[in-house]
Amino acid sequence: TVYTTPAEASVAVAARIAHLIRDKQAKGETAVLGLATGVTPVRVYAELVRLHKEEDLSFKNVITFNLDEYYPMQPGAAQSYVRFMNEQLFDHIDIDRANIHIPDGTLAEGEIIDFCLNYERQIEELGGLDLQILGIGRTGHIGFNEPGSAPNSGTRLVTLDDMTRADAARDFGGKQNVPAKAITMGIGTIFKAREIILMAWNSKKAPIVKKAVEGDISSEVPATYLQLSDNVEFILDEPAASEL
Ligand code: GLP
Repeated sequence: TVYTTPAEASVAVAARIAHLIRDKQAKGETAVLGLATGVTPVRVYAELVRLHKEEDLSFKNVITFNLDEYYPMQPGAAQSYVRFMNEQLFDHIDIDRANIHIPDGTLAEGEIIDFCLNYERQIEELGGLDLQILGIGRTGHIGFNEPGSAPNSGTRLVTLDDMTRADAARDFGGKQNVPAKAITMGIGTIFKAREIILMAWNSKKAPIVKKAVEGDISSEVPATYLQLSDNVEFILDEPAASEL
């Protein structure tokens, strides 16, 4: 679906999320959301905060799992995804803190495998993700599933691609300060979501959006795996869709 502007598209995505939450509330159920970071979803979170403040949208029945976090990363650091999520969304809504899950950048290396298996287990025990929102990196990564990621991959520690670290350099005051690794949900984890929405704005994303949507399915561009799912929608602004 192509919208004229990111603002319109973001309002539409937030409305979908709000609808899911209210629908689950009406049935006395929880909504299990997979959340993303980056510039792309910022307006979606702002609209959700507005819906909470102005239209009584409650997040009491919402459980969230974030896609990824740099490793290592302290939660209070400026670049941490914990801090990002707090600032953009969680500090402004009525979500129960115990319902928030974000990969832990403070683990010792030896604790990571167990943490990742437990992350998968927690999602599974809740019946899976109702909705996963995604951005896309210029390498074609979703979450931090860089080129070479397997379609059935689970939550794990990964090494970041050079281009991804270059794109993050500004946030870290230089590429040399960008962590070499990250913990990310896998392609397999994402795929199990009942609904997946990938968002992309801006002409900078147009080449990778074209590859993701029209290119050959390949581990070289992990987002191409999304072509294999019937539950995926790409929501784009006109510039991001301009090469399709
Ligand atoms: C980071 C995140 C991804 C995100 C990507 C695109 O690498 N780990 O989940 O999709 O950046 O970021 P942006 O939305 O800022 O373009």
